[in-house]
Amino acid sequence: MVPRHGRPVHPPALDPATFRRALHAWYRKSHRLLPWRETRDPYAIWVSEVMLQQTRVESVMGYYSEFLERFPDAGALAAADEPAVLAAWSGLGYYRRARFLRSAARVVVREHRGRFPRELEQAMALPGIGRSTAGAILSIAYGLAHPVLDGNVARVLQRLAARPGVPDMAPAQLWELATRLMPPRSGAALHTQAMMELGATTCLPDSPACPRCPVKKLCGAHAFHLTADVPAPRKRPRQVREEECVGIISVRDGLVLERRAGPGALHGMVGLPRAASREELQSSLGTAARLVEQLPGLTHFIMNRRIATEVWRGTIASRSRLRGELFVVARKEVFGQPLDGTSRKLLKRHAS
Ligand code: ADE
Repeated sequence: MVPRHGRPVHPPALDPATFRRALHAWYRKSHRLLPWRETRDPYAIWVSEVMLQQTRVESVMGYYSEFLERFPDAGALAAADEPAVLAAWSGLGYYRRARFLRSAARVVVREHRGRFPRELEQAMALPGIGRSTAGAILSIAYGLAHPVLDGNVARVLQRLAARPGVPDMAPAQLWELATRLMPPRSGAALHTQAMMELGATTCLPDSPACPRCPVKKLCGAHAFHLTADVPAPRKRPRQVREEECVGIISVRDGLVLERRAGPGALHGMVGLPRAASREELQSSLGTAARLVEQLPGLTHFIMNRRIATEVWRGTIASRSRLRGELFVVARKEVFGQPLDGTSRKLLKRHAS
């Protein structure tokens, strides 16, 4: 908390117009060219903001354009069946977003004549759209002065307002500050993109690039050397280690897949048959199955779970006695299925 070099240089009070001038000039000069920044189509912007929830730009880049080709407007998305939408989302994770996006498209078609609503309340009433996502879409697509407040933007604001000995702002204060910084007339779209860009590329969680920050002179955390303390580090839940075993099981020219049952995160998805161990996998596939060869496994992370996946290649003599959740698809149709990310990765590696 004590500044390393001499006395602290107090930042001037945060004047919104001064802040915006510096931020916007920086954004115009140095922003990344991203496909959703090339469009004014509210539907395309809506899809991008949902894909970008909790997901990195680099991951979204692999899905965005193809998804829009497949479902070019709200009408097409509303008319699609859920497995087709999940298949287009397969590998991107947090599949609830895809189910919500399709449900929201149906509401938009039914109640808003196919156009994303301009009212904040109506936008927030759509499945999967909270205040921050609604603010992002309405400001970027329609230029309306509703702020975004995702994790990156919250960090930027906490640091701007940081003062020694003062705790982080509560959500209501963050919203208030985000709103105060919005341009009152034009420029809302650019402002929202610039706030997110600053958080994503410069005001980074662990080693912020303050020397190249356009608003460092206005920043409390910079002036008081508090960037490591603000926002206060959150306690991460302890990592839980888990093991599982999956099978790439052939039946003539088909593969055995499993419906992911239950109300969990993977509801509606399908994947490779899996169990807690090789023995359990064997018994769930039945006596007609043979696990022939162990393949290289992989490790993946879901929230605080570290899951080590063992992989077996196998065959099954007959599909007739497969238990309920298991089914067979032709090999050439496998990648049209709503596969979970791990199954997709393993099948790409081993089944082509
Ligand atoms: N994260 C959320 N929305 C974004 C956007 N429009 N551009 C870049 N990153 C984002």
